[in-house]
Amino acid sequence: MKTLIVCSSMHRGNTKMIAEAMAEILDADLMEPQEADLVNLEQYDLVGFGSGVYGGRPHKSIEKFVFGLPRFRGRKAFVFSTSWRGKPSYNEYLKNKLTCKGFDVAGDFCCKGFNCFGPFKLIGGLNKGRPNKEDVEKARDFARKLKSQECI
Ligand SMILES: Cc1cc2nc3c(=O)[nH]c(=O)nc-3n(C[C@H](O)[C@H](O)[C@H](O)COP(=O)(O)O)c2cc1C
Repeated sequence: MKTLIVCSSMHRGNTKMIAEAMAEILDADLMEPQEADLVNLEQYDLVGFGSGVYGGRPHKSIEKFVFGLPRFRGRKAFVFSTSWRGKPSYNEYLKNKLTCKGFDVAGDFCCKGFNCFGPFKLIGGLNKGRPNKEDVEKARDFARKLKSQECI
């Protein structure tokens, strides 16, 4: 059973760190949206969509990727994000878009990520060291749970 993780991580690689931890547990292929564009998603049983949060939204590249997808009936998906605030509600946007595309969203994950954008740079950034070991372990647990739910 095959898993793909598509991830946009444009600021500090925070979301990519989480994506890599999940990919290891799920034995998943990990790609940026531009690479995933060239791949037939039909070959995957589970697809993860991850992004940093920029202005309250996932990165444009992953939005564009999801927008361009055909409709999939009942294909399993999951969503994850890192952000300054670490709010689960940031995942709702992609969850809704994927549901509209016919995906069955099996779960979502979020954690805080280091942010040194704009004025935050002047104070050394926010959430230094995040994602940390504990965040990465929680991401692994999330992936283990997906596996045990027999999503894959
Ligand atoms: C341009 C920009 C806008 C951001 N907007 C938000 C935001 O609206 N809410 C939030 O909680 N974090 C925001 N952040 C913080 C990032 O979501 C956070 O640093 C995230 O971990 C970045 O992930 P990445 O390193 O994978 O790109 C923003 C960061 C940047 C660079």
